[in-house]
Amino acid sequence: MSSQKPQKPATKTVTAGRKASLTGPVVNVPVWRASTHLYENVAELEAGKGRNEDGRFFYGRRGSPTQWSLADALTEMEPGAHGTMLYPSGVAAIACALLSVLKAGDVLLMTDNVYDPSRSLADGFLKRFGVETRYFDPRTTDYDALFCDRTRAILLESPGSLTFEMQDIPAICAAAKKRNVVTLLDNTWATSYFHTALDKGIDMAILSCTKYIVGHSDVMMGSVTTHDKLWTKLRHTAQQLGQTVSPDDAYLASRGLRTLSVRMKAHETSAFHIANGCRRRPMSRPFTIPLCSIAPDTTFGNATLPVHRDCFHSSTPATRLPQRPSSTRCNCSALAIAGADLKALPCPCSPRNTGQSWHGISPAH
Ligand SMILES: Cc1ncc(COP(=O)(O)O)c(C=O)c1O
Repeated sequence: MSSQKPQKPATKTVTAGRKASLTGPVVNVPVWRASTHLYENVAELEAGKGRNEDGRFFYGRRGSPTQWSLADALTEMEPGAHGTMLYPSGVAAIACALLSVLKAGDVLLMTDNVYDPSRSLADGFLKRFGVETRYFDPRTTDYDALFCDRTRAILLESPGSLTFEMQDIPAICAAAKKRNVVTLLDNTWATSYFHTALDKGIDMAILSCTKYIVGHSDVMMGSVTTHDKLWTKLRHTAQQLGQTVSPDDAYLASRGLRTLSVRMKAHETSAFHIANGCRRRPMSRPFTIPLCSIAPDTTFGNATLPVHRDCFHSSTPATRLPQRPSSTRCNCSALAIAGADLKALPCPCSPRNTGQSWHGISPAH
């Protein structure tokens, strides 16, 4: 038995993906810009195809050590994971994860606080291909009532986009597993730094790496991390759909990952600071701050998300935000999610498919 202590998440962000077979004698994996591999003879070419499953260079679309190092790092950040596929955006990652498990006739469950383009995918592309999507209230606790005989997958997001409701991930996963339903989590807001997903029962953990992993607003990328049972399906779907990321982008994303823990701690501190400031102002309305004492979702947060406190929302009179029509109300999210100098993100708050408005604050309020 190894006497080595498991690495803490902050250490992992620095060490993960740095195996010598990929980096060679240097600290960071070099940028391998390559499409075609030249072989000495046909026999070597044939042998190369087989080895590619083990992550040796075969053809640029299937990645090179630069992409594999990043993929390995994201895999190491998720205990229980077998592998990670990289995609040219977070939306591509969500689409490919869903396509790798769904077929015509299936029902997909989607939390109603999902990132909006995931909804467009479901209501447009997936519908055309015969997949029916049913939305559910992110705060429901009657998990058993969600499923039917045709339910094949459930897409969660916790905290959910812009309204930040938390979900009881282990409980939902347990209910899904009883019915052989695949669980997918868009883990972009928390990342595996604040919330490891597979060890809570999630089958596929999805990230828009564009945001916290890259961290400097200069690269688009997505990832899906999964365990051994779904790995082949995920990998083959990505390959069949021609999904690939450039080595330069992978290099930048790896570089961003190295400072993830420092940035996440800073986001957390800033978000609390802003939340406390808003709480003292007369304009303030109820907030959702995952795991903060004034958050209604504290209970779920304790179960699934130990320290995520980097984001919050409030219903704020739009007149307080510059350049918004005074008739609209906004969801004001304090975030520095893509490393941008983004002070506030005003979004119209419309009712969701389940008819729930957020937090009892009516959009027309
Ligand atoms: C929660 C969440 N998921 C997915 C995405 C999509 O990622 P990308 O912009 O990289 O396609 C975003 C982007 O804002 C997001 O916030």
